[in-house]
Amino acid sequence: MAQPQFTPRVFSGIQPSGGLTLGNYLGAMKRFVTMQDEGSFETIYCMVDLHAITVWQDPGKLTRATRELCAGFIAAGIDPERSILFNQSQVPEHAQLGWIFNCVARMGWMKRMTQFKDKAGKNAENASLGLFGYPALMAADILAYHATHVPVGEDQKQHLELTRDIAAKFNHDYETEFFPLTEPVIEGAATRVMSLRDGSKKMSKSDPSDMARINMTDDAEAIASKIRKARTDPEALPSEAAGLNDRPEARNLVNIYAALADRTVDAVLAEVGGKQFSEFKPMLADLAVDKLSPISTEMARLMQDPAEIDRILGRGAERARAIAAPILAQAYDIVGLVRSA
Ligand code: TRP
Repeated sequence: MAQPQFTPRVFSGIQPSGGLTLGNYLGAMKRFVTMQDEGSFETIYCMVDLHAITVWQDPGKLTRATRELCAGFIAAGIDPERSILFNQSQVPEHAQLGWIFNCVARMGWMKRMTQFKDKAGKNAENASLGLFGYPALMAADILAYHATHVPVGEDQKQHLELTRDIAAKFNHDYETEFFPLTEPVIEGAATRVMSLRDGSKKMSKSDPSDMARINMTDDAEAIASKIRKARTDPEALPSEAAGLNDRPEARNLVNIYAALADRTVDAVLAEVGGKQFSEFKPMLADLAVDKLSPISTEMARLMQDPAEIDRILGRGAERARAIAAPILAQAYDIVGLVRSA
């Protein structure tokens, strides 16, 4: 059956837990900015604070992380006029539609989610119910806007498939075509930034070692020292991408270089092939400082005025509600929930 036409609309979310890393910037934000600037989509970017509290968050730190993430979005190039930028909890429609989706999603589907299994670990009995239901709320984030495209990392693919399953089951059960089947826009491996200590693990804000990541707030000295100490192998750099197979640490550093320089891996290797890491690492450190310090300086400037950040988030939330509220109202009508005029 042909789907009805939906407005081309991008939605994505980042959790305000811990600080922003180079991984968030290269893997997510840079792409968000491109999609905004392209102009073929309406772009909506959300700080998913309700997702963050599925695991314990210190309240003061959560507040700060939310504002810092907002500052990071803006410093990286998201324009709060051209995009809609807000925090999830200020748009109650997410939680409301999330409840309906809790009633659409099946236990069996949720139990298969690998992120839950990873995050809950061995002690799943003690995980929050929210952590288990997390993907239904994520489906609500997306579908409350009838978003058609969702840029995310590879690790979120399963959640997007679940979002499609939820939309399809809702449409089927209520004999409607109300929700779109959203397209995932999965980032390529090249933009996946790995830990500086272990090339097989994603660079993460929750890694116990701060040396494993570059934080967007790191100064030039910290960046240079982390890159200098990054794990590598003893070989020189290859001249072609194929030479990076089975060399995860080398590949990661070259990927980071290419992403920061906006060049392909092959173009970078054509230039640096044959060099030792002792020579390549300082080049990478210089480039990273060059690209990241304007962003971190701008973040620090924005963070000096938290009231202004809150105003921006509030304005974004108002614009988000203007889209989500009528969609939620229609969903309520479809389900048969009485809404008094
Ligand atoms: N689950 C996503 C992550 O951990 C964050 C997220 C929540 C999200 N809601 C979303 C991403 C909606 C895209 C769309 O990265």
